[in-house]
Formats: sequence, C-alpha cells, structure tokens
Amino acid sequence: IPISNIRNFSIIAHVDHGKSTLADRLLEITGTLNLEPDRKQVLDRLQVERERGITVKAVTASLQYISKKNKQIYLLNLVDTPGHVDFSNEVIRSLTACQSVILLVDAKEGVQAQTFANFYLAFVNNLIIIPVLNKVDLKNANTQMVGKQLSNLFEIEEKDILKISAKLGTGIIELLERIVSIAPAPPSERNAPLKALLFDSWFEKYRGVIILLYIQDGEIKKGDIICSHHTGASYTVNNVGIVRPNEYETDVLKGGQIGYVTCNMQSVKEARIGDTFYHKGHFVEPFPGFKPLRPMVFSGIYPIESSQYVALRSAIDKLTLTDSAVTLATETSPALGHGWRLGFLGLLHLEVFNQRLDQEYGAQTIMTAPSVTYKVRIIGEKNIKKYRTDELEISNPVHLPDVKIIKEMLEPTITGTIIAPFSDPVCFLAEYLSKIVSLCAERRGEEKSVSFLDESRVIIQYILPLNEIVIDFHDKLKNISSGFASFDYENNGYVISDLVKIDLLLNGEVVEELCSIVHRSKARKFGHELCEKLTEIIPRKQFKIAIQAAIGTKIIARENIKPYRKDVTQNLYGGDATRRYKLLHRQAEGKRKMRMIGKVEIPRDAFIKLLKT
Ligand code: GTP
Repeated sequence: IPISNIRNFSIIAHVDHGKSTLADRLLEITGTLNLEPDRKQVLDRLQVERERGITVKAVTASLQYISKKNKQIYLLNLVDTPGHVDFSNEVIRSLTACQSVILLVDAKEGVQAQTFANFYLAFVNNLIIIPVLNKVDLKNANTQMVGKQLSNLFEIEEKDILKISAKLGTGIIELLERIVSIAPAPPSERNAPLKALLFDSWFEKYRGVIILLYIQDGEIKKGDIICSHHTGASYTVNNVGIVRPNEYETDVLKGGQIGYVTCNMQSVKEARIGDTFYHKGHFVEPFPGFKPLRPMVFSGIYPIESSQYVALRSAIDKLTLTDSAVTLATETSPALGHGWRLGFLGLLHLEVFNQRLDQEYGAQTIMTAPSVTYKVRIIGEKNIKKYRTDELEISNPVHLPDVKIIKEMLEPTITGTIIAPFSDPVCFLAEYLSKIVSLCAERRGEEKSVSFLDESRVIIQYILPLNEIVIDFHDKLKNISSGFASFDYENNGYVISDLVKIDLLLNGEVVEELCSIVHRSKARKFGHELCEKLTEIIPRKQFKIAIQAAIGTKIIARENIKPYRKDVTQNLYGGDATRRYKLLHRQAEGKRKMRMIGKVEIPRDAFIKLLKT
C-alpha cells in the first residue's frame, strides 16, 4: 500500500463517550475482526480498564478499508490513547505517531473536561481534527446544542461535524470516508534511512518484549540490526508485523506504517517510550521531545498474609515486566513484614497497578500511604562522607536522617492547569471559581494566573506541592465542578520547604509504618486526625493505651484508649466492703504495672483499615 493511502489516526474522547465502542465498530465494519457477542471492546483488553471505564495501556490496530468513493484500498492505523492525566505521557507519544484524530463527543453529555485536555494536545501537535458526535440514537441526544459547543470552543464549523451511533453502526462508513478524504497521509520517505518511533511495548511469556513502532522513514524487516538512540544498544529483529489487533506477521514494515517488532530485547525497561530506532551504522536525527518516565509517587506494598509473599513477588515481577513505568525496590517493615516500595507516575497509575495485581493474579495486598520523593540537604563532613552525598533523596519517611544533621529539606512541585468550563458566569464566579481557588490555597498552592479562555471557559494555573495533590486533589476538584473541570500538571522542580517528620507513638513506642513527612503548618491537624483515627481502630485492652503524635521529642497530639474494666467484684455477694476495695485496688495495681510493660501491637487488620482510610 502506497504511503498516500495510509492514514494514522487516534480517537480522543472523554470517559464513556464511546471510544471503545467506536473502535470495535471500525474493526467490525472493515472486516478486521468478527466480534463474538461476549468479546466486545477488544481494544480495552484489560479487566481493570473495563471496570474503571478508562483505557490504561494504548492498544493499536491496523484496518484495511476499500473506499466506497474511489474504490482504492487504504490502510488505516488506529492508535488507541489512554485518557487520564497520569497517562498523558502515553497520550503524547501515541499522538506522535498520528497525523489526525477523531474528536468523539457524546451528543447527550456534550463537551467534557477530558475532551479539552486532549483536544489541546492534538491541536498543539498540528493534527487534523475530525469532529464526531456519538450516540445520536439516544432520545435525549442534543446534537444541535453540542454542535454549537464544539464550534464555540474549538472553532469547528458545524457543517463539518459527523453524527454517528457507534452502538448501532450508523454513520460509520461516512466516518471512514471522511478519514480517507481529509486526514493526511504520513510524511514519510521510504527511500531514506530507517527512522522509527517506539510508542508502546509489552511483554509476553514466550516471545518476550514486543515493541510497537511507527516507521517514519525507510523500512524494517527480519534480520535487520537496529539501534536505540537513547541507550545505544543494538538488537537483531526476529519478526515484524501488523497488529489487527492480534499480531499478524508480515515480511516488512515500510515508511508510514505502524506495526510490531520482536527482537532480542530482554525487558520492557529497555523499551523507552519515545525512543528513536535506526539501522546500525545509519544514524538519523531522533524524534524530538524524548522524556524518560519518572516515578512521582511511592508506596509500600505488602502481602496481607505473610505466607503469600512468594506468590505476590512473582505477581509483581510479572506485572512490572509489562509496565515499564513502575520502579521497584524491596522493603521491610516490623509490622507488615517483607514487602516492596514501588514508584508510580501518579495516583491513578498506583491504583490501577494494585487492582491489576488483585484481578489478574488474585494477589491481596496492603499499600502504605503514598509519598513523594523529598530531597534532604545535610551538614557535617562526617555525615556527608557516611552518606557519600550532601543531598539525600528520601521517598520513605522512615529513612529520614536525624533532624540534627538536616540543613534543609526540599519538596517537588508541579504547575497545575485547571480548565473549568461554565455556562452561567454569575453563578460561576460566585461559587464555583472561589471553591477551586480555596481548594488550591488549602493545598498550599501559589496562584500563577487566572484568565478567561472565552466566555465559557476559565483557565487557572497554580504552583502546587506534589505531595498535596497525590492523594485526593483530583477527586475534590471533580466534586466541586460536578466532573467538569479538567486538571493536568507538569513538573516544576524542587523548592525548599519547611517540612517536618511526624512520629506516631503507641505507649511511647514509635510505629515506623505510620511516620509521615508533612508541612509544618499542617502538622498539628494531621497529628490530631491520625490519633483520632487510631482510637477508632485499635481495640481496647486491659490497660490504657496512649496514642501520641510527635515532632522529635515534642508531642503535638494525644489521645487515650481507655482500658476495659473487668468487673473483678462480680463474684462477691454482699459481705465485707473491705474485700471489695482490696480487689479493686489489686486490679488497679495490676493495670499500672501492665501499662508500664504493656507494648501495644496494632493488629494487622487494624493496620490495613487505617491504611485504607
Ligand atoms: P473509556 O474506555 O472509558 O474511555 O470509555 P469509552 O469512551 O470507550 O466508552 P465505551 O465505548 O465503553 O461506551 C460507554 C457506554 O456508552 C457503553 O455503555 C456503550 O454501550 C455506550 N455507547 C457507546 N456508543 C453508543 C451509541 O452510539 N449509542 C448509545 N445509545 N450508546 C452508546
């Protein structure tokens, strides 16, 4: 198939607007796949994706289509993109392989948050945008109103908007014809040296690492020796082919095509997203904008029962093989036993990983509260010698050195962009904007700018500590804005910050797993809340339990769990009162002793409860 008959495109849509249904329909109508009724949505192949309704790992498919108009054969490469901020890296890299996108909008719901973020990504990447309204079969679909939104927001002409029902299959042929006629062919040179972009990879048990490449120039075939621009390593190509969406071997992949390659790559860690490949000895300029994935959020993972350690280890090993963005180190905790510390791109990434562990491997785990990586500058030549650096990176609060040797601490910050659409300006300014601003302020945000994009959208930029957004910022924002505000962020470097370590003590003993690093201004509140939560969770004992939160030796919060009192006098029938006093006195004495020696153990299930709240 000549380059002029190739179209590489992707579908961008808000959650639930019908992306997977449309992809299935495209596969079905082009005869790429006969869908069995129970095997719908092949493109969302992981169970988590189906449950959460989000696409996590990009999956690509090549379709063959004979145009009804000019009878020519076209090769249409559909690149599936994930839709969440944690995965915006994956969206960007998938878009690099495309020349056009289908902007899919639910005709009932209208334009929503994610549509914006992805629209702008496509827009700044100079991609041709094909606007499509989906679900027009619904009774309450409002194609006119949504069409207006698109033209207002994105300057799309109403006459260019296609109306389809992905579910019923109406309008799909028109859509295919539109792709063929207005989407550009890839700007490829087949006679030039090989230049290929790696935009996805996964691991299979028998074949090893499989990489997806967009062949910008030249061609690639079995036996070729290719080099990674990023690592300089070279590999021998074992197999090449296209994905439909199951792999289908071909002799060669030529300029403009998208396909898979297997080679002697050992682990997905070698398959860097955004990396450029070329033939050994024929160096080419790499694709711009290569950014290695960097974990931002860390959490400890432990088996619920220590007997499950080995099984969990094998599950984690397998899962990290398919997800190159996760980093892994072993960790031990006195209360939870042996486990691991994992690094993730963001909180959703972490949740999805945990859910995959559970669903695909049946591994039940406990996760400790997520933390970011702090930098700690230390003083004293002896200390610097001991640590072999004057700036430590700490992603587990337990590893924080003694405060006496800390000169200063730094925390990572991000530039957050919130785009909030609104329909009623008076109501918006009065309520919703002030709520967003106070949410950012409460999270120690520093306002950068607030401006109107047009009469129905405002763009708000804040510099925020990453630590303040990892847990529930996005959820809170969604709540405030009824799901409409979209949020995205980029790294903004480290800044010096007044951070403190809070220790949690039970009857004077520090519980390591419950240590945290927080900003001084929030320490008291944090300490109180933690102590209160623990009083609800730790079961009462025969002796009093003191729960304390402390910064160094200074106690900042305290709660007590009262002992339960056994009625030692219940066997006495009347008689001498002194016998009663004696018994009570002896009980009190016993308790005093017990308190002194009483070590409190938090039961494992209480621990789990705490970490889950
Ligand atoms: P993510 O994978 O989470 O991004 O969702 P998605 O955009 O892929 O949505 P999906 O295809 O899973 O569709 C969401 C829901 O909308 C499903 O229940 C579909 O059956 C339904 N749906 C999709 N297209 C249509 C349509 O044309 N008409 C009607 N009535 N329902 C549709």
